[in-house]
Amino acid sequence: MNDLPTDPDTDDGALLSVRGVDVGYRTGRRAHVTAVHDVSFDLHPGQSMALVGESGCGKTTLGLGLLRLLPRTGVIPKGEILFRRKDGTRVDVRTLHKERLRRFRWSEAAMVFQGAMNAFNPVLRVEDHFVDTFRAHEGGGRRPRREILEESAELLEMVRLDPARVLNAFPHELSGGMRQRSLIALALALRPRLLILDEPTTALDLLTQRSIVERLAELRERLRFSMVFITHDLGLAAALADRVGTMYAGRLIETGTTRDIFHRSRHPYTSALIDSVPPVVGDLRVPESLPGGPPSLHALPPGCSFAPRCAHALPACDLTRPELDVLVPRDEGLAHAAACLRSTDAELHAEGASR
Ligand SMILES: Nc1ncnc2c1ncn2[C@@H]1O[C@H](COP(=O)(O)OP(=O)(O)OP(=O)(O)O)[C@@H](O)[C@H]1O
Ligand SMILES: [Mg+2]
Repeated sequence: MNDLPTDPDTDDGALLSVRGVDVGYRTGRRAHVTAVHDVSFDLHPGQSMALVGESGCGKTTLGLGLLRLLPRTGVIPKGEILFRRKDGTRVDVRTLHKERLRRFRWSEAAMVFQGAMNAFNPVLRVEDHFVDTFRAHEGGGRRPRREILEESAELLEMVRLDPARVLNAFPHELSGGMRQRSLIALALALRPRLLILDEPTTALDLLTQRSIVERLAELRERLRFSMVFITHDLGLAAALADRVGTMYAGRLIETGTTRDIFHRSRHPYTSALIDSVPPVVGDLRVPESLPGGPPSLHALPPGCSFAPRCAHALPACDLTRPELDVLVPRDEGLAHAAACLRSTDAELHAEGASR
């Protein structure tokens, strides 16, 4: 059915292999606007990947697309989202049908949404959210409520919350940080192997942000799930990620280990993002050193989408869109790759190379 034979092109050890995925939103009966273009990457078990980039570059759209959680108008017109399930079989999430998709979510992969602090139903106590989640994914018989609450308490303890207090509370009785940690515990309830977090710490104060980051790092160590987290915050990316993917105008334009990205970035946009942020945790503003804004999805330039803002653009950049070329091959999806005609230009990267 949806179980796939081994394909020589896919990375067998990967938990998630994304291949040439487009994601868009319908604008009419047959028309759609493409918000994510031709994204490919591999994520291995236990890895964490940060997706960074300016507002509107398609981070949330990609995250939602990977789990097929897009709004009704969302479409995934092309590509493959191959996921290795707990039983070892591989599925293409893009083609999963309703019931299989429902089972896939939460138990194989879960997401904490952007602005998730309001994701709790305000009239239900936190414990009811846990009970509903466990029950919705049970096979046959109903598990006793007491047993579910014991397991929920364990999960809450993992995010360092007091279960006695939190389970019994209504969402509004908790602080923003407590709610966010409760949501992370809830997302992990069915022990997914992939957790996607969209801006997990935005709108929280710095100390709370730090505590969430520490909890996530501990949890990942303990439960060994893979993580994609979407953030504006490069400090957070540096603290939590094994690797980073930069997005611009719907495309993945650079990917590499956290070290590659922060110390020897090969795309001028990534470099501008890094230069625009002080090296401590802080919200990313549109970089001051970068004039203009990203192009409209409806009018992407024919060449490199970043060329109109790029201080290093050559005439050829306006004509040809560069591929995401591998600069340093590495296994386990950790290659350093950049989509820039000048990615190997010694003159441009002389300073970076010596860093
Ligand atoms: N429901 C929707 N219908 C139509 N277009 C949408 C919808 N949601 C997002 N878009 C468009 O898709 C593009 C990507 O948006 P997306 O929310 O994925 O960006 P983002 O990188 O997550 O931004 P932010 O950092 O602000 O959260 C934007 O141009 C946005 O206007
Ligand atoms: Mg977003």
